[in-house]
Amino acid sequence: MNYQVIIPAAGSGKRMGAGYNKLLMNLAGRPIILHTLDVFEKDPNCSRIILVIHSNDESFFTEIGSRYTKIHLVFGGSERQYSVYNGLTAAKEEGIILVHDGARPFIRPETIARLVAAAEENGAAIAAVPVKDTIKKVKNFEVVETVDRSSLWQVQTPQAFHFSLLKNAHERAQKEKYLGTDEASLVEKTRHSVKVVEADYDNIKLTTPEDLYFAEAILKKRQQ
Ligand code: C5P
Repeated sequence: MNYQVIIPAAGSGKRMGAGYNKLLMNLAGRPIILHTLDVFEKDPNCSRIILVIHSNDESFFTEIGSRYTKIHLVFGGSERQYSVYNGLTAAKEEGIILVHDGARPFIRPETIARLVAAAEENGAAIAAVPVKDTIKKVKNFEVVETVDRSSLWQVQTPQAFHFSLLKNAHERAQKEKYLGTDEASLVEKTRHSVKVVEADYDNIKLTTPEDLYFAEAILKKRQQ
């Protein structure tokens, strides 16, 4: 089953502290974003990559765009949600659309295939893993309560949807001025069910500097 993917890559990477877009930082000698793009460029089921960028990085991404066959460049917004919304304007208004963070280079093609199939059937599906740690609710550095972790999952990307479901959810969120941290939360607001596909713990998002050490280790392991 074919799909399109929106890759938001227009963040500033403040938590990484590099002083520039973290996706341009090197991982094993290549910019992080190239590792992510390669997965989708190589996947024969991916028909279009909508790469959402910041104007500061335009020359870098224009050069990159010319090396990949599926990339369409779009400018992002001040929040991730607005960047994804801009990405929707460059998509074909049909079929399955994925949203995948540029900062998650370790997504496996098998997980993508399972997500696309689940979204086909259900309309919406997200990659996630069960929470491993004990989770506590804390206020002013004092424990309020220990949350029962048996039903808690840590959510990742990709998240996959029927195009019309995602577009409607975004338009509704815009109208209601709701800002979510992922696409599924917008879809949940429409009361449409969202299926969970169990993914991998190594599908990490490179957010803070120590994540780069984990990333090098994951790459090394995969190259063995
Ligand atoms: O900051 P964080 O890593 O959570 O961002 C997730 C993804 O969303 C990153 O790939 C980042 O480049 C992208 N993003 C975006 N537009 C923004 C903020 C973040 O495309 N305004």
